[in-house]
Amino acid sequence: MNKIKLLTIVSVLIFVSCQKGLTDKEKEMYTQKGQEIAKATFKKMGGEVTKKMKEGGVFLAAPYCNAHAPEIAKDISSEYNVVLKRTSHKLRNADDAPDDREAEVIEQYLNLHEMGEPMQAFVELDAAGHPHFYAPIKLQKKCLACHGVPGKTMEQRSDSIIKSLYPHDKAIGFAENDLRGIWSIQFQDKE
Ligand code: HEC
Repeated sequence: MNKIKLLTIVSVLIFVSCQKGLTDKEKEMYTQKGQEIAKATFKKMGGEVTKKMKEGGVFLAAPYCNAHAPEIAKDISSEYNVVLKRTSHKLRNADDAPDDREAEVIEQYLNLHEMGEPMQAFVELDAAGHPHFYAPIKLQKKCLACHGVPGKTMEQRSDSIIKSLYPHDKAIGFAENDLRGIWSIQFQDKE
C-alpha cells in the first residue's frame, strides 16, 4: 500500500470516528436548540421586514435587509454562543456564500426535494469538532415579493431596487415551497 492510500484511509477513519462523537441525546438536544435559534432569527428579521413592507414596500424593506440582516445574524450568534449563517445555492449577498460542507448539504436537500422526500434538520460534528446544525429554508408566499419571478410573482421595479443593492443577485425566480437555502449554525459550547 502506498503512503497516499494509507493517509487517505487514516483520514477517512478519523473523519468517521469524529462523526460518531455526538450521542443521540446530544444530537437531539442540539437539533432542538438549532430549531429554536432559527425560529428566533426568522422572527427578528421577519418582524421588521413585514413592518417595513407595510410602511413602504420593497423600496423600504430591501434596504432594511441590506443594512440589518448581517447585524441580526451577529447579534443572535453572540446571544446564543453560536456562529449563525444563512446560505444558498442562489445567493443575494456574496458574503453568505456556502463552504464545501454547506454546498454538499444544499445539494442533498435539493435532491431530496426533487424526489418529493422530506428535508429534515440534522446535527453533526463539523471539521472543527463543533456540533453543527443544518436545516432547510423553504420559500413562503410572503418571500415572493423579493425572491419571486420578476414581472410575474414579483414586481419588476422591486427587482430593479434589489439589483441596485446587489448587482450580482441570483436569489430570484423561486416559487412557494422551493428550497431557498439553509440554516448553518455552529455551536461553540462543546469542543
Ligand atoms: C423585502 C425584501 C425581502 C423579503 C420579503 C425577503 N427577503 Fe430574503 N433577502 C433579502 C435581501 C435584501 C437579502 C440579502 C441580505 C443579507 O442577508 O445580507 C436576503 C437574503 C436572504 C437569504 C440569505 C442568503 C442570500 O442569498 O444572501 C435567505 C436564506 C433569504 N433571504 C430567505 C428569505 C425567506 C425565506 C423569505 C421569506 C420568509 C425572505 N427571504 C423574504 C430581501 C428579502
